[in-house]
Amino acid sequence: MRSQDPSRRLTAGRAAAGRVRALAAVALLVLAGTVTLAQTVAPLSGNDDPMANTDAKPVPKWVTDDVRKMRNYPDQPPVIPHSIEGYQLTVNANRCLSCHRRELTEGSGAPMISVTHFMNREGQMLADVSPRRYFCTACHVPQADTRPLVPNTFKDMSELGFRPAGSEQ
Ligand code: HEC
Ligand code: HEC
Repeated sequence: MRSQDPSRRLTAGRAAAGRVRALAAVALLVLAGTVTLAQTVAPLSGNDDPMANTDAKPVPKWVTDDVRKMRNYPDQPPVIPHSIEGYQLTVNANRCLSCHRRELTEGSGAPMISVTHFMNREGQMLADVSPRRYFCTACHVPQADTRPLVPNTFKDMSELGFRPAGSEQ
């Protein structure tokens, strides 16, 4: 019988031992990788003991200089350059629209909500803001001037060597 062949069993045994060694090596690599990662990337939750009661850090101050910020790419929801402290945004009241609604922009001087905000998901234009764009802060957020938690290597399209239309003299 095949299983009684001692030489075969020996090679099978060796192969099995080889597999175990390979597995151990992979496990060691994964472990080493995790340890290095843990050393180089700061945990987003901070360095405090995760089970300890620690004081929350003060909320950083928002940038409220009223200067509309450049978008990093054309479909980026523009960030909010003003304070939204205490603005009610509920099913019954939408403080944002009290300035950004088309009918009210002349008085408020606020930019009108984008034309895309009137479109429902089938692309049909509605008379008012589409329900899927009603809760503005799902996409638009104020900014705080803080240190990035992780390095960011994002490059603007215009740094990637293309020539913007109309830029030739
Ligand atoms: C009192 C009027 C007013 C209210 C209320 C208001 N905004 Fe504004 N918003 C403005 C004005 C005016 C600007 C133009 C920049 C500036 O003056 O701050 C602006 C700018 C913005 C921009 C930047 C647009 C761009 O193209 O860069 C966004 C986004 C925005 N607001 C979102 C909101 C959201 C979301 C809310 C509600 C949480 C809100 N705004 C409430 C008046 C208002
Ligand atoms: C689902 C995400 C989303 C929601 C919700 C949303 N927006 Fe936007 N908004 C965007 C994006 C993306 C853009 C830029 C591209 C575009 O115009 O659609 C934008 C653009 C804008 C602009 C700039 C318009 C311009 O012509 O410069 C204003 C102002 C604005 N939104 C206000 C609002 C307000 C006020 C609300 C709430 C009533 C709101 N948005 C809800 C994603 C959103």
